[in-house]
Amino acid sequence: MRKNTAAFCGGAYGDEGKGRIVDWYVNKFARKGPVVVFRDNGGANAGHTVEVGDTRIALHQLPSGVMIEGVKLLLGKGMVIHPGDLIQEIESVEKATGKSLSKRIKIDELAVLTLDTHRAFETVLKNWQKGGSGSTGRGISPAYADVLLRHPVRVRDIVPFHTNSIAAHYQLYQSLISGLGQDLSSTRVVTAAGEMMPVGSEKEFIQRLRTQAKKLNIFVTNLVPLLIKYWQDEQLGIVCEKAQAIGLDARWGVYPDVTASDTTFAGIQAATEGAFNIDEITLRAAVIKATYMSSVGARQLPTHMTGALANQIRRDADEYGATTKRPRDIAYLDLPAIRFFIKVGGVKQLILTHMDIIYDQPLKICVDYKLNGKSVSYRPDQVYLNKVTPVFQNLKPWKRAEIQAAQSKKDLPFAAKHYVEFLEKELHIKIPMITTGPKREQTILLS
Ligand code: IMP
Repeated sequence: MRKNTAAFCGGAYGDEGKGRIVDWYVNKFARKGPVVVFRDNGGANAGHTVEVGDTRIALHQLPSGVMIEGVKLLLGKGMVIHPGDLIQEIESVEKATGKSLSKRIKIDELAVLTLDTHRAFETVLKNWQKGGSGSTGRGISPAYADVLLRHPVRVRDIVPFHTNSIAAHYQLYQSLISGLGQDLSSTRVVTAAGEMMPVGSEKEFIQRLRTQAKKLNIFVTNLVPLLIKYWQDEQLGIVCEKAQAIGLDARWGVYPDVTASDTTFAGIQAATEGAFNIDEITLRAAVIKATYMSSVGARQLPTHMTGALANQIRRDADEYGATTKRPRDIAYLDLPAIRFFIKVGGVKQLILTHMDIIYDQPLKICVDYKLNGKSVSYRPDQVYLNKVTPVFQNLKPWKRAEIQAAQSKKDLPFAAKHYVEFLEKELHIKIPMITTGPKREQTILLS
């Protein structure tokens, strides 16, 4: 095992509160020595908020740990990076903290770019798909599709700036969009500030990107040789922060609410070209909400919850979209789905958040599915999931006030300890940490 390593992914359908766990481990390693945080997948579709005094900054592409002095932030080649949005994030952090990030960020020259052309195409395609495919509108899947179609625009296409490649890229997207009866230059796309702006002409698009490339220039490097060096230096803390969640992976989630990147731990191996051996990462944990699940989009979870309890959870845990404020769907915790995500995701440990979302009534969770009288597993297929019948079990609840007040493992209410042991047994996995309330210090290490 490589000392001082930890990797985290979302273990359900997103929004599990991973950023806070990542921050906790970055802080832990940072007390002993230098730390790097590596992000391998996704782009501006992810999101977490940091606070600097009274200022709240929404971050989408910079990993957690950005607020911890000296920590290096590495954006790997499995990411799809939007240059304009990234510059905006960097500048807002620098403005709020008064400190330069120039020595702290490194971007792999092979990372893929997602540009306003991709955002425009996604918008136009969504109309063509008629009510299908939800996306965050950040041009994520078209950018990954470019890779599979063998014409990605990579960071090194703009640093140094290759005008001809960028012009060819614009013209390709113009053809695709006009093929769908629309015009690229006038299609409006979302900006970092959340406003809608037209993409503009080829000349305007190139000029804008050229200006952005000049600003990003200082961060761009061939990251892999550095990753090899970092891995060899066992005193250096390495934290890998994945984006999205295993249940949002196109292979393991349910259409149409899936994203295009590899949301499993295997993505780290790929984006580091094997420099980080995931089998040697000490902590390889998926983060899930302890007592329920949340989901955004059209997918119908077998354990979907309605009525007063769903509303209560939504209110207590603020289960509303971070940008859209849309109420999230709430579901009973679905162990067949989690068992599946653990298996396909390469997950070794589980971290439970929201242990304080508990009520004075039995805690109902799904332990199995039945189909035609037989016990069956989760499969990533909505048609199949519509047919299964969840089997529920009721467990003894604990008191919210007691768990919120717990300072360490020994203070945990008996029923909460029992619940953790129950999940460990049902899922054949270790649970080394839980969170017991919204404050950062409401975090309890179990092993
Ligand atoms: P895309 O990632 O923008 O392509 O969106 C694909 C699907 O993944 C949509 O259903 C999004 O709502 C969902 N999604 C992407 N990122 C997140 C996330 O960080 N949390 C929850 N859902 C997400």
